Amino acid sequence: MANILLLCSLKYKRMKIIQSVSGLADALQVFRGEGRTIGFVPTMGALHEGHAALVKQCVSENDRCVVSIFVNPTQFNNADDLHHYPRTPEQDQALLESIGADIVFAPTVEEMYPEPDRRVFHFGLLDTVMEGQYRPGHFNGVAQVVSKLLTIVEPDRAYFGEKDFQQLAIVREMVQQLQLPVEIVGVPIVREASGLALSSRNQRLSEEQKKSAAEIYRILRESTLLAGESTPQHITDFVIGEINKVPGLLVEYFEIVDGHSLQLISSWQHSGYIVGCIAVYCGDVRLIDNIRYK
Ligand code: PAJ
Repeated sequence: MANILLLCSLKYKRMKIIQSVSGLADALQVFRGEGRTIGFVPTMGALHEGHAALVKQCVSENDRCVVSIFVNPTQFNNADDLHHYPRTPEQDQALLESIGADIVFAPTVEEMYPEPDRRVFHFGLLDTVMEGQYRPGHFNGVAQVVSKLLTIVEPDRAYFGEKDFQQLAIVREMVQQLQLPVEIVGVPIVREASGLALSSRNQRLSEEQKKSAAEIYRILRESTLLAGESTPQHITDFVIGEINKVPGLLVEYFEIVDGHSLQLISSWQHSGYIVGCIAVYCGDVRLIDNIRYK
């Protein structure tokens, strides 16, 4: 009997797709009126198992799960990259429904930015390095959209992947600066069997390129085994040298940093939280990944 009831309730649970901020506010008000906890997963769509891991954790830790799908123009510093960003709305909705999301918030650009967002965030040294150095303005755009989304949804918890390691650090800093009452939860990187970190951008790789791209994580892993006998500088040179030897790969940066401050370290004794972060071009597709040393 209990099983039949469960089946019925699953069958009749309908995920809502909402495009307007006011429509979302109405739906959220119902949840809050019922005393439900709300979890939130912001995404740019073209969803894969990496996103699904965030959503599954959100569903399991909150009474209700809201997922946003919005390709945020203000975080793209390259018009071509924005133009090529994959969009797969029907598949995304089917995936989200199958893993138990309650609401998909899919606003238009006009809905999110009725006026241009002129806010400028300051993250100190956190956004001058790595992605911040190579994608100027990127994290300001991320902070603009994530702060708007968190203010609209007002979730109890919001989920971000450790794949975008620097983004997670920036979001934590922003939430502190703005004193937003939300718990930021970091979720480990989901990888293909080959080790390649899942990314919406992988759809643009040929089979041959995927094989090359899988070398990134293999070499990162190898570097963690060598770390004990070498300095961070030697490991950095090793990783960049080995990856650049792989046909079709070109390292943009690889930095071994303190996991909190994101500043370069010169000794493994620096702290107990040390991470190597990398950006690599595979053809014209830019891939990022990271690995923990300590
Ligand atoms: P997007 O690239 O769609 O990623 C949405 C979330 O999924 C991010 O928190 C990202 O770190 C996480 N994610 C992506 N691939 C993952 C993987 N292989 N394993 C674990 N988590 C993974 O990141 C963004 O969108 C945007 O910048 C956003 C935060 C939505 C703001 O526009």
